[in-house]
Amino acid sequence: MTDQAAGPTPPQGRALPPYLHAMAAELTDERVAGADEDVHFTEHVATEVITALTIPGDLVLDPFAGFGTTLAVAHRLGRRALGVELLPERVAAIHERAPDATVIEGDARGLHQLLSAADTGPVALCLTSPPYMTANAHPHNPLTAYQTLGAHYNTYLGDLTNIAGSIHDLLRPGGHLVLNVANIRHQGHTTTLAWDVARVVSRAIPFVAETVICWDTLPHDLTGDYLLTFRRDG
Ligand SMILES: C[S@@+](CC[C@H](N)C(=O)[O-])C[C@H]1O[C@@H](n2cnc3c(N)ncnc32)[C@H](O)[C@@H]1O
Repeated sequence: MTDQAAGPTPPQGRALPPYLHAMAAELTDERVAGADEDVHFTEHVATEVITALTIPGDLVLDPFAGFGTTLAVAHRLGRRALGVELLPERVAAIHERAPDATVIEGDARGLHQLLSAADTGPVALCLTSPPYMTANAHPHNPLTAYQTLGAHYNTYLGDLTNIAGSIHDLLRPGGHLVLNVANIRHQGHTTTLAWDVARVVSRAIPFVAETVICWDTLPHDLTGDYLLTFRRDG
């Protein structure tokens, strides 16, 4: 029951639906000016997640902020928006798209230090999509935005586990992490990235459920696209 005098209560018992729809045309239409690739998720997906799992005034974090979909939608919905992004040109794009959001140019592998300086208070929802990696034929390191060589799939998964540990500590009790991750077919081999990320991140934050993103046309090499929901105990 809602205590009307106290205003809306956080939607602790709510969860995401098992399926969400997405259209390739939406993705193209929402491409930010100057972007040369579609690494973003759709505003519809971000709206569904943020509406379901937060209330106005809550803090929403995206540590791989990209072109700022999470931050722009969170701000539009009356949530406080905070992001980290490695590439300066994408930080600039976020400033254009979501001028009221806070965005820090930096490396999410140092999330704790980056955000302790910002003193933001507890995070209600972390909605993000990490840079992807395949287990085969992938020398570039996703966590340097593919700018360095010498990447290893298990090291990458370890880095994501450590970042999830930092996110755990930033979340309020009962707060959610929602990760958009796909399985990928590349040069004759399918990397079960979504399953692998679910397995390693659940060491840091308990896994709750997956939502299948039902595309009219699956983007490039993906075999399936998912939102993985984790929830901090409490
Ligand atoms: C899949 S994209 C996120 C797209 C975003 N969800 C959107 O809708 O625009 C991943 C982003 O993570 C950034 N990135 C890669 N390594 C990073 C790191 N170590 N720290 C912070 N950002 C990083 C990339 O530059 C890229 O913009």
